[in-house]
Amino acid sequence: MKAVNICIALAMLASRLPASDDPPQSEAAKQGQRVFSQSCGFCHAPDATGTGQAPNLLRSDLVRHDENGNLVGPVIRDGRPTKGMPPVRLSDAQISEVIAFLQWRLADADRTNPADPHAYSMQRLLTGNAAAGKTFFDRQCTGCHSASKDLAGIGRKYSPAQLQARFLYPADIKKSVTITMPSGKQVTGTLLYQDSFTIAIQDPDGWYRSWPTDAVKFQVRDPLAGHLALLPTYTSTVIHNLFAYLETLQ
Ligand code: HEC
Ligand code: HEC
Repeated sequence: MKAVNICIALAMLASRLPASDDPPQSEAAKQGQRVFSQSCGFCHAPDATGTGQAPNLLRSDLVRHDENGNLVGPVIRDGRPTKGMPPVRLSDAQISEVIAFLQWRLADADRTNPADPHAYSMQRLLTGNAAAGKTFFDRQCTGCHSASKDLAGIGRKYSPAQLQARFLYPADIKKSVTITMPSGKQVTGTLLYQDSFTIAIQDPDGWYRSWPTDAVKFQVRDPLAGHLALLPTYTSTVIHNLFAYLETLQ
């Protein structure tokens, strides 16, 4: 790979320049660091050097040769679901910021270890504290889950990478909706379709039924809303602890 060799050569050249402090971090890179630690750091480690579950992005040719998101953007948007990398919903601006952060990390890693830009702190495994995770779980999660019921054996059911993906991005769960007809009669079913004019459900007998939205009252419930609303409130320490705890549910 010629391009990689040139990168290494440039990095080695740079290393002969007078030692400087960390490369300056642009505003975009700072912003990207926040987005990254929130959305990616749990799997790839907050400094992008990887964990036992996801690769070191500082060793990724794809990251190194990205130009304006042409290589990394599609991986973020589409994920590699069969390989433990879920699609992550970020705006185009956030994707650019994440890439600015990764490039800043690369520049720093090359400077720190110019002979082998790939060797930078490779070993980083998930080292959460399961006991702390259990305390958090008992406080925050037992409203909807139980370690002895729905999540029993979850650590055995999924590989660590799958479990992370399930926890961060549970499979699409259907919304349920209760329709109240003008007569007062109610029917609850699975939401199939909704726009400004029409609402359609599959009723408990399996039938497709639809109404004009102005003819009925309806209340939609998203079972995942609570789960998803919590995610952005976790720090990566909390997530690592929770994950260590979930892994003990064998
Ligand atoms: C649930 C864990 C998880 C999360 C969250 C996650 N990734 Fe990944 N990522 C992975 C795994 C596992 C792979 C390796 C997939 C494979 O083997 O192809 C990967 C691969 C990648 C790759 C490809 C590396 C290469 O050289 O092939 C990039 C780039 C990447 N992730 C960036 C990100 C970014 C940026 C985010 C946040 C926006 C993110 N990932 C969030 C697990 C994750
Ligand atoms: C407001 C309810 C709610 C809260 C609170 C909640 N979840 Fe969930 N969670 C769900 C729902 C609904 C699903 C999707 C249904 C399913 O897959 O079991 C889900 C899915 C999951 C899954 C994937 C399960 C599987 O079998 O794929 C894990 C793991 C999980 N939650 C862990 C947690 C943890 C840990 C917490 C606390 C930090 C938490 N959840 C908080 C509702 C919630």
